[in-house]
Amino acid sequence: MKKVNLFYLLSAILFGAMLVFASCTKEGAPGTNGADGQDGEDGINGDDGTASCILCHDNSQVMFAKINQWEHSIHATGGNFERNGIDCAPCHTSQGFLERMETGEQVTAASISNPNPINCYTCHWIHNEYTPADWALTYTDEVNFWHTGGKAVTEDFEKGNLCANCHQSRVTTPWPVPGSADIYEITSMRYGPHHGPMANLLGGFGGYEVPGSMTYTSSMHKNIEDACVTCHMADAYGQQAGGHVMNVAYEYHGGMELLEAGCDAAECHPEGIADATEEVQEEVHEMLEALHYKLIDLAVSDSAGYLLGDDGTLASSSNPANLSADEAGAFFNFKFVEEDRSGGIHNIKYAKALLNNSLEALGD
Ligand code: HEC
Ligand code: HEC
Ligand code: HEC
Ligand code: HEC
Ligand code: HEC
Repeated sequence: MKKVNLFYLLSAILFGAMLVFASCTKEGAPGTNGADGQDGEDGINGDDGTASCILCHDNSQVMFAKINQWEHSIHATGGNFERNGIDCAPCHTSQGFLERMETGEQVTAASISNPNPINCYTCHWIHNEYTPADWALTYTDEVNFWHTGGKAVTEDFEKGNLCANCHQSRVTTPWPVPGSADIYEITSMRYGPHHGPMANLLGGFGGYEVPGSMTYTSSMHKNIEDACVTCHMADAYGQQAGGHVMNVAYEYHGGMELLEAGCDAAECHPEGIADATEEVQEEVHEMLEALHYKLIDLAVSDSAGYLLGDDGTLASSSNPANLSADEAGAFFNFKFVEEDRSGGIHNIKYAKALLNNSLEALGD
């Protein structure tokens, strides 16, 4: 009991002491609040997050029209963008093109994963600044052409330079020199400029210019402002031609029609030009056919237009073709005008001279 009493006693003393101290530090009631201070100045408003987006993503239907045209173009539907290896990707994939235009190389560093076909982002700087300034075309500087046939070329197609970067002849080796007595060894059945030498024909260079009865001059078409763009991107006809479809000819009720909207730019052909176009194309196709038959006769080409090796089957490294300059050059000219696919329209004078003089050189 004694211990307990002592405990209570000590506790009571301690409690008493706490009360004494507590009462010493006790504060008074809070004072009334002071008056509010003055408001600070307003900050500057930030940009509306989507204001510049809407300048393109608006309801004017312009974007829809271009997208719809592009969706029906060969750029979108051709399907050859799976050619994503280092020497094909520079022209066949969107990413490969943008890469090589920066590096200046003719190949990409590696094959392109997740390849994209040629699309809005290939030709315009979409989503760079996020303003309509992004409609600017990606690359329109003069093209440093890969194959000129030994000519010094300074051709400026303005907006058409964009197209010419891809629609140009690939490097062709060996390259025959007219008049040379050399024999040229060719190890590929695909000898020639490849499928897209339009810019070379338009500019009037890159053919095998063997002398003959016709001179190598160019038609007016090479001087049209913006070149390709003026003829191929004239006011669209539905989703068949022009605009972002980019084809000049289209099928209509089973026949081929020419989109003439671009032909009358600068009032060049106000009276219509479809019939005259067809005539030129027929004439050029006849010349192409004659040259092809001659090359078949000489066992240089097969009937599908591939190069034959010395043993009469398709040329390859184990079966090379050993050809004279005129044989190799004439074969190149045949492929050049054929693969251009305009039936000579891109440069009527140059195309005809190449075909005519090649035939003469082969002893027609
Ligand atoms: C220069 C015009 C332009 C401006 C400015 C612009 N865009 Fe686009 N945008 C495009 C084009 C062209 C496409 C591709 C259209 C297509 O193929 O469907 C696109 C596609 C898109 C897409 C679809 C996804 C994609 O990447 O393909 C979205 C989302 C988008 N834009 C959002 C925006 C936003 C958000 C802004 C503003 C911050 C903006 N855009 C500004 C032109 C523009
Ligand atoms: C990045 C390279 C590239 C650029 C730039 C480019 N093209 Fe093409 N173009 C191609 C390829 C590759 C094809 C074939 C696509 C396929 O078959 O998949 C093609 C196909 C076409 C076709 C369809 C040919 C046919 O078979 O009917 C036309 C027409 C055309 N391009 C015109 C143009 C025009 C005009 C421009 C410039 C405004 C342009 N191209 C810019 C690479 C390009
Ligand atoms: C300098 C640019 C360029 C390079 C490099 C290139 N191509 Fe092409 N290729 C084109 C163009 C342009 C076309 C479209 C021509 C057209 O449709 O009128 C095309 C068309 C094609 C076609 C379609 C032919 C047809 O008749 O439909 C094939 C297949 C093809 N290329 C394969 C290749 C392969 C394989 C490589 C790589 C070894 C390659 N290309 C490299 C520009 C190029
Ligand atoms: C092969 C290249 C190419 C591709 C792909 C391409 N464009 Fe274009 N685009 C052009 C060229 C060249 C012009 C300029 C035409 C002219 O001056 O007549 C142009 C013009 C335009 C314009 C008008 C721009 C202005 O300044 O008024 C719009 C809008 C446009 N393109 C949208 C698109 C959209 C959307 C896509 C994708 C669906 C696309 N383009 C794909 C080459 C291309
Ligand atoms: C004078 C107008 C004109 C110019 C400039 C022009 N083309 Fe053509 N192009 C044509 C005509 C016409 C055809 C033949 C169309 C047909 O009958 O199939 C054609 C055919 C083509 C073809 C074959 C596919 C098709 O539509 O039949 C391609 C690809 C092509 N041109 C690309 C180009 C490129 C790339 C340039 C610029 C380097 C260019 N063209 C410059 C008028 C032009």
